[in-house]
Amino acid sequence: MLPGDGIGPEAMREVRRVIDWLDRRRSISFDIDEGLVGGASYEAHGTPLTDETLEKAMRTDAVLFGAVGGPQWDNVDFELRPEAALLRLRKEMDLFANLRPAICFEALAKASSLKPELVSGLDILIVRELTGGVYFGEPRGIENMPNGDRRGVNTQVYTGEEIRRVARVAFDLARKRNNLVHSSEKANVMESGLLWREEVTKVHDTEFPDVQLQHILADNCGMQLVREPKQFDVIVTDNLFGDMLSDVAAMLTGSLGMLPSAALGMRDAQGRAKAMYEPVHGSAPDIAGKGLANPIATILSFGMALRYSYDLPEEADLLDKAIENVLAGGLRTADIMQPGMAKVSTEVMGDAIVRELEKLTA
Ligand code: IPM
Ligand code: MG
Repeated sequence: MLPGDGIGPEAMREVRRVIDWLDRRRSISFDIDEGLVGGASYEAHGTPLTDETLEKAMRTDAVLFGAVGGPQWDNVDFELRPEAALLRLRKEMDLFANLRPAICFEALAKASSLKPELVSGLDILIVRELTGGVYFGEPRGIENMPNGDRRGVNTQVYTGEEIRRVARVAFDLARKRNNLVHSSEKANVMESGLLWREEVTKVHDTEFPDVQLQHILADNCGMQLVREPKQFDVIVTDNLFGDMLSDVAAMLTGSLGMLPSAALGMRDAQGRAKAMYEPVHGSAPDIAGKGLANPIATILSFGMALRYSYDLPEEADLLDKAIENVLAGGLRTADIMQPGMAKVSTEVMGDAIVRELEKLTA
């Protein structure tokens, strides 16, 4: 567990209670080790991620990550900023496939900024490439130019294999859902986008001809997500477009406070993959420590760990159901508050979810 900064630790505390419940009531126990990451690690060790913490992350079945960052670290060296820890974990663990489901709980259909009929029943999955593209491409940096001005450089670069392996994840997941994949890039402007389109098509035609594939330009994809989101099933896209499109998709579900994610590596011979689970929301320093944070995205991220790392689908379903019932019962944290509902703190929300688990299994 790497709770990190801002609202990370308080959201993670509620996950602990779910874990305690599993231990107490279902005799499922986890070996847990907790470490510092991001600004918290920078304060203690002068680096947002120590080699020791990285080592442990590489060895564990699943890393549960809270959030990193805050204004107090705005001026630290670029390579030492809290976010660098997250990027290093993703890269060193080779977590190339980032699953970001956007599911609209019925009780929250009215909390979305879109009309309820557009988002009610929404269930889409964004598969974001997570270890390549402009986030990691070389050359990069800020350079001084001969004329005294400066130049900022980042490089968008993808190899065929980087594209094919994430495409396979998307097609494979689509088969277990509604069998439709939209692949999103800017093939009309970028060569890396053209390669993306060609490689995805190749994987489709040779390995997944039974899955429906559509190519969509990333700008149009953003527009279609807010125009008619239910036309989508799985969207596969690169690191940067995936970052943006998943924030857009998050708002369809009512709040960024609701969205979990799983970052997965390649499966080994035993079928195990390195994995890190984290809420899509950030550290929200403005509300940290006030009991205002919504712990659901972090709890749902743990639910994804139950599903993808621990092979406990029954418990994962149970957790989803408990959250659905608590929302249907009218409890809301501030971010999803609606008229007539009961506004509750982070802790009361966690409490209610554990009580609901208890009720569902009584
Ligand atoms: C996300 C975040 C990160 C990203 C930041 C915190 C580095 O926005 O996980 O979506 O850009 O990938
Ligand atoms: Mg983001």
